[in-house]
Amino acid sequence: MLDNKIIFITGWTGSWGNELTTQLLERFNPKEIRIYSRGEHKQVEMKQKFGYNSKLKFIIGDVRDKNILWLAMKWVDTVFHLAALKHVPVCEENPWEAILTNVYWTQNVIECAMENNVESVIDISTDKAVDPFNHYGCTKACWEKMIINANINYESNTKFVCIRWWNVIGTNWSVIPLFKKQILENNKITITDPMMTRYLMSTKEAIWLIFNALEYSIWGEVFVMRMPWTTVEVVADTMIDLFWNKDTEKQIIWARPGEKNHEVLVSKNEMPFTRILNEKYFVILPQFASDEMKKKYNDFEKSSMEEFNSHNADYLSLENLKGILKNEKWLWN
Ligand SMILES: NC(=O)c1ccc[n+]([C@@H]2O[C@H](COP(=O)([O-])OP(=O)(O)OC[C@H]3O[C@@H](n4cnc5c(N)ncnc54)[C@H](OP(=O)(O)O)[C@@H]3O)[C@@H](O)[C@H]2O)c1
Repeated sequence: MLDNKIIFITGWTGSWGNELTTQLLERFNPKEIRIYSRGEHKQVEMKQKFGYNSKLKFIIGDVRDKNILWLAMKWVDTVFHLAALKHVPVCEENPWEAILTNVYWTQNVIECAMENNVESVIDISTDKAVDPFNHYGCTKACWEKMIINANINYESNTKFVCIRWWNVIGTNWSVIPLFKKQILENNKITITDPMMTRYLMSTKEAIWLIFNALEYSIWGEVFVMRMPWTTVEVVADTMIDLFWNKDTEKQIIWARPGEKNHEVLVSKNEMPFTRILNEKYFVILPQFASDEMKKKYNDFEKSSMEEFNSHNADYLSLENLKGILKNEKWLWN
């Protein structure tokens, strides 16, 4: 699927870059992987991690700069678009910046891909885009629409698809690395709302979802993996258990502006357009589904759920979460 292709990744130096690139190199034989982001230091750090590899090409650039983005995308076959402002509080405090990066300049990625005759663009979205409550979610909801609608709005050979992710364990500044730091440094952790629920998946699973979706996709779909959920309190207790500090103090700080107590993965309005791909995946079809798409998904069942949320997903117990975390190598470094 990605063999012999030139792959372009925006936002590679974020939480995903390492695992996405490792799996791209392990599973496929790409011709080249181009890394595109702004921060020099993060790129140098990643370069050192991967050592010399002639397939990796590092380019400093901003998705807001169409000229450089266009040049950097020359001869590219496949784009993974990850670059975003993604912290809920940061987007609440800087709404215009979030609109610029996540919405306005996603159009740059779409246009540069089409103008360079890129075959496919894979965009990474989030559960926060479903019935959005915070500004980050609003920008990612627009991002999803722009990407999916690009399949019909423009005359081009480029195909677009969305993968909707949720909380990936261990990503930059997320709760699990934060709890680890707090336990080891002060033996005191800050919990938003103990009963707040979140879906969780490991980085490996998150990347796996991308490759799996690409195998199925005929483009224009939003792919969603059916993930288990747990409460923030269970996450806290699991971390306390793992790092063996039974007397860790828990301080409740309550939800921050824009944070939802419960996330939804497929909304009520999306359910009529949703098909069950298998026990692991839902696929949401666009409202303008082509005849080809209707034919392909005709035999896949619709879900009887009103929406897919933490009430009808599987529950992740402390023991199960512990099992997952024990295999997350980064946690033990
Ligand atoms: N982490 C999660 O749990 C999660 C869940 C669901 C969806 N997602 C989505 O997955 C994607 C990646 O998330 P992440 O956790 O890896 O984010 P992250 O750690 O904050 O990384 C963001 C990446 O984007 C780059 N970037 C930001 N603004 C840019 C710009 N204007 N031009 C070029 N590059 C830019 C950053 O590098 P520089 O700052 O050096 O440019 C960095 O490489 C995002 O689209 C996010 O919405 C993440």
